[in-house]
Amino acid sequence: MAVSLAVPDADVSRVEAASRLRPRVAVVLGSGLSGLADVASEAVSIPYGELEGFPRVGSVVGHAGKLVVGLLGGVPVVLFQGRAHQYQGVSALDAAYPVRLATALGCDTVVVTNAAGGVVSRLAVGDLVLISDHLNLMGTNPLTGWAGPVGGFPFVPMRDAYDPELREIMLEVAARQGVKLTEGVYAGLLGPSYETPAEVSMLAGLGADIVGMSTVPEVIAARALGVRVLGMSLVTNAAAGVGLSHAEVLEAGDKAAAQLQRLVTEFVSRL
Ligand code: HPA
Repeated sequence: MAVSLAVPDADVSRVEAASRLRPRVAVVLGSGLSGLADVASEAVSIPYGELEGFPRVGSVVGHAGKLVVGLLGGVPVVLFQGRAHQYQGVSALDAAYPVRLATALGCDTVVVTNAAGGVVSRLAVGDLVLISDHLNLMGTNPLTGWAGPVGGFPFVPMRDAYDPELREIMLEVAARQGVKLTEGVYAGLLGPSYETPAEVSMLAGLGADIVGMSTVPEVIAARALGVRVLGMSLVTNAAAGVGLSHAEVLEAGDKAAAQLQRLVTEFVSRL
């Protein structure tokens, strides 16, 4: 089946009619990280339910489910408060909808954030990780069925998918702010069950530092669309941690959210 990365014109018009701002940068906010949208000025919001192409899923606690256009560090941005996950039954292509819409709105850079489990023991709850690369272990790809750009091929290069220049800027911002930020490889799994201890050992053996259930489809779609990517994870738990609950994932988010907000705001202002 022919697959298109385009979004309905109505969604682009809906966002463009809501604000005079023309966003250059998109930020996708993961579990417990939605607060960044509250510090945007001149903010207008649109519930995902009002966007034709946004996948319809029941909301998961911690995901606000709206799009916000505003100014962050003086730069016009579009913020996505929450995302649709493949574990909710949506396709990889639909899970990448925020990135596809952001591109249609004219963004050339996307910042993807998420809550993740720490795979390696050097990472503690509350640590922030700059994603350097990923392992797509989701068993799906948002480009399945896509023919590629006009006259091209669908074989999108994924070397340096997490833009080295943008990573350099973020590392500088973190150093300036005195925030500990280390780079790591993100393993994307389908979920919604968490990993078994055997799976966590396997992930460590494969070179993963952190594990989560999002981000990978968004980043693949962004690269197919020629958009630059920066990825940030907040470690909310040790993977395969005993007695892990979604509430704990959200609580860890609260504590480090302010740090992440300051990093992303300064990062955006430097673009
Ligand atoms: N595993 C997968 N996804 C997650 C985790 C985890 O431990 N924590 C937050 N998202």
